Amino acid sequence: MSLKLINIGELVTYNSEKKSMVILKDIEIAIENGKISDIGTLVGDCDEILDCKKKLITPGYIDSHTHPVFVNSRYNDFFDRLSGLTYKNIQEKGGGIISSIKDVRKASYKKLIRCVKDRMDRFINMGTTTVECKTGYGLSLESELKSLDVLDKVNSIHEIDIIATFMGAHAIPPEYTNNRSDYVKIICDDMIPSVKKQGIAIFNDVFCEEGYFSIEESRKIMLTAKLHGLFNRIHADEFNDFGGGELAAETHAISADHLMNISEKNIEKMVDNGVIGTLLPGTTFSLGINNYAPYKKMKEMGLEIALATDYNPGSCNIKSMSFIISLACIFLGMNPLDAIKAATYTSAKSLLIDKVTGSIEVGKNSDIVVWDFDSHIKIPFMVTNHPIKHIIKSGKLLN
Ligand code: NIG
Ligand code: FE
Repeated sequence: MSLKLINIGELVTYNSEKKSMVILKDIEIAIENGKISDIGTLVGDCDEILDCKKKLITPGYIDSHTHPVFVNSRYNDFFDRLSGLTYKNIQEKGGGIISSIKDVRKASYKKLIRCVKDRMDRFINMGTTTVECKTGYGLSLESELKSLDVLDKVNSIHEIDIIATFMGAHAIPPEYTNNRSDYVKIICDDMIPSVKKQGIAIFNDVFCEEGYFSIEESRKIMLTAKLHGLFNRIHADEFNDFGGGELAAETHAISADHLMNISEKNIEKMVDNGVIGTLLPGTTFSLGINNYAPYKKMKEMGLEIALATDYNPGSCNIKSMSFIISLACIFLGMNPLDAIKAATYTSAKSLLIDKVTGSIEVGKNSDIVVWDFDSHIKIPFMVTNHPIKHIIKSGKLLN
């Protein structure tokens, strides 16, 4: 089965040879057996032809940070925030992450599959073709393995590609409040080896912040994960300059995420150790605060930047990567091409899949969005309205 895209208005993608974003016009794309087989002014014959009617074409988005394995959204936390409480106040009064674990522990495998599958339908309809999904609302061996099984199942039945991350270190569950070291020991001695044996998760993630996991606890968990062959990501320096970015550098984590309060010294350490900075402006926006991550400083210092939604039941309900690009341009000061690169190629790199997806290049998966407008600048400009004409995932025309 082969498919040819013709009459493309503007093709915007990262190019590995040029090592930069490119904007191509008067170009066609040929797809064979799910892969991009040719890109040129006139490609050869194909079984099917898709007329793109002079519209914009981009790679499908790669959303490299989400928490979709939960049952109910915590819109009551949102209401409390509107009344003036902070994320920390809400956690202290029993809301926050911990209040999501009861229903995940109770939920059947089938129910969780339904919840996650419905969310994946929304993600792909907004142009995301690969999504990193974290566990972390079970926080017991059994419910964390169940959450990973759910991700594996949804990945097998859904067009979207899921990359699974184990996040047993999302919070200290209530039964361990008074003996947190026991929970850290369970993560290291029981959960990580079992997760590795189960074989679904590629990454381990730790919420390294005041009130969650200390630097010392995070280090122990990350080194154990690494020893068992999981790659590390870390939630770092969101509320304070806590040292998570520095720990990411020290442990050679693949990505450190949030980074709203990271110091210049620790940005430098991340750069020196090749850690990608994943920025999540949707969370800053949704929390109603305005200390966005210091993107301009990061860019100047040479940090590689990815963008993601941080979709989760509490602090951020955003699934649209187009909206994230808009926030990144408006509030972080990114230019549209840099933002699209961060939401496609660099996100793929942070998931170790940049050799197979994240850009429109010969040999890569044909994960492509045909937008119903003509210029990439309209992605940030249109803020919440991003009509799509077609989504192609691994060669299959989805709509
Ligand atoms: O990235 N920081 C940890 N995880 C999420 C919040 C999860 C939640 O509030 O349920 C985040 O913001
Ligand atoms: Fe997160």
